[in-house]
Amino acid sequence: MTFDPAPVRLDGKTCLVTGANGGIGAATAEHFVALGARVLTTDLGAAFTGDCTSEHRAFNLMTPEGLEGCQHWIAAEVPDVLFNNAAIFDMGSVLDADLAQYDRLFGLNVRAMYAVMQATARALVATGRSGSIINLASQAGHRGEALVAHYCATKAAVISYTQSAALALAPHGIRVNAISPGVVDTPMWDQVDALFARAEGKPPGQKKREVGEAVPLGYMGRPFEIARVAVFLAGDQAQYITAQTLSVDGGSVLRM
Ligand SMILES: NC(=O)c1ccc[n+]([C@@H]2O[C@H](COP(=O)([O-])OP(=O)(O)OC[C@H]3O[C@@H](n4cnc5c(N)ncnc54)[C@H](O)[C@@H]3O)[C@@H](O)[C@H]2O)c1
Repeated sequence: MTFDPAPVRLDGKTCLVTGANGGIGAATAEHFVALGARVLTTDLGAAFTGDCTSEHRAFNLMTPEGLEGCQHWIAAEVPDVLFNNAAIFDMGSVLDADLAQYDRLFGLNVRAMYAVMQATARALVATGRSGSIINLASQAGHRGEALVAHYCATKAAVISYTQSAALALAPHGIRVNAISPGVVDTPMWDQVDALFARAEGKPPGQKKREVGEAVPLGYMGRPFEIARVAVFLAGDQAQYITAQTLSVDGGSVLRM
């Protein structure tokens, strides 16, 4: 009997969520806990601010000490699931997005993302365990945008590293996938809205309304709509899915 109608459960799994105090991170940690997982969370702040209990450590993944601390933690805990989510946004075209912005965005969105993924992969391989790594890409990773040069490039890099890691780790039973959210109503989008308000002379909140209305399904995504897909990719129902980037964007990005 191969038909398994059981809903996803994550009992017995340890799940690590980075950027856990953000909109998508908190929702995903809450879903993992609700489904029975032991959840480790990390963010800049000393406590987890989501609506569930987790084992929390504060790490600034942009500093050598913070990144190293997180890597040691991962080696000790060996998470079965990594939700590799911490990232920052900033805007700027090729005419004004400077190398300082490049260093900040690539420092967290790519360098730290890669280092945390590598630490998790190494810990799983060293202990002979399978696992599921989920990296957060973005619809911005599928095409450039005039005013968002560096952020788009960081998310394209996430997609590429997801594919390379998935192929290298497949023989070890470790799946690596990415989720590409479209526009999701989180603190990050409050910042995006404020930046666009300044750049395009719009009143606060207008850009948010416009992007929500432009989504084929007609509204901005909510963090739980990303968390539900994370749960699926984390669990055994997705055991034959690897190296993929799954768009969760209300139909915004179409690819053959
Ligand atoms: N919100 C969207 O519309 C959207 C769209 C596409 C992709 N994404 C991606 O989804 C992920 C989550 O986004 P979100 O909207 O929940 O963002 P968010 O800003 O709400 O959360 C990001 C979290 O990362 C943490 N963080 C920032 N700098 C850090 C550092 N140096 N070290 C450790 N943690 C740090 C922040 O404190 C914050 O809690 C990100 O990778 C983002 O790029 C979001």
